[in-house]
Amino acid sequence: MYEEFAQVYDELMKEIDYSKWSEYLQRLFLNAPREIKSILEFGCGTGTITCKLAQKGFTMTAVDLSEAMLTIADEKADGLGLKNIQFYLGDMSNFQIDQTYDAVISCCDSVNYLPNLEALQSFLVCSHDSLKSEGLLLFDVNTISKYKNTIKDNTYIYDLDDVFCIWENQPDLIKKEMHFNLTFFSKNSDETYNRYEETQTQHMYSIEDINRCLTNIGFHKIKYFDFGTYMPGSNDGERIQIVAEKK
Ligand SMILES: C[S@@+](CC[C@H](N)C(=O)[O-])C[C@H]1O[C@@H](n2cnc3c(N)ncnc32)[C@H](O)[C@@H]1O
Repeated sequence: MYEEFAQVYDELMKEIDYSKWSEYLQRLFLNAPREIKSILEFGCGTGTITCKLAQKGFTMTAVDLSEAMLTIADEKADGLGLKNIQFYLGDMSNFQIDQTYDAVISCCDSVNYLPNLEALQSFLVCSHDSLKSEGLLLFDVNTISKYKNTIKDNTYIYDLDDVFCIWENQPDLIKKEMHFNLTFFSKNSDETYNRYEETQTQHMYSIEDINRCLTNIGFHKIKYFDFGTYMPGSNDGERIQIVAEKK
């Protein structure tokens, strides 16, 4: 997962306003009783949000399961001359580091890749262990409603400058899984194309699932926002932004 696809990820995501996303996170940091200076990011991908936050002066530690995504992230940070980011190859459901942070974040439905409630719980334990007291955990998830009503079994075609991509969705609402079957043609410098295929699976979590896990682990002051706003989020929205505090 996220190997060859890493090469086309930024091209496919270019409609996403990552500047606005990082500003939203920065405003949510104001919920923390402590000043946020150091951040651990899980599922950083190609590091766009990582770099935006580093440019704002935060000290970043960023973790991803995909070496290919991290290579791009590292090049991006180098290109911007950023020295305040450390990248690690790792799994958010068993990551350990001998350091604690003011905030732990995970963005753009990385958490939906966790395969079951045990893995979700383990990710939350890792986050809790990595936070300083009164530190903040922030992550977002796609809702079950978005998988059911928006993503559905649609097929999307992306005809972009250097990549042509067919993105087929295959929901399994009984197992609460969404399979993405991706076929993409990546343009070479000599105008020929290489064909790649990749399958990814995301998993559906409700507010109730997440709340149970967060509460079990000892997080408090848990808030669910409709993503991008400060209004209460619900399972009927598209994306929920979760903010929780370590005691
Ligand atoms: C949709 S991308 C989001 C990337 C980035 N956060 C962004 O905003 O563009 C999901 C990322 O989560 C990573 N990922 C999936 N499961 C993971 C895990 N268990 N631990 C760490 N990273 C994971 C993938 O490799 C991928 O880079």
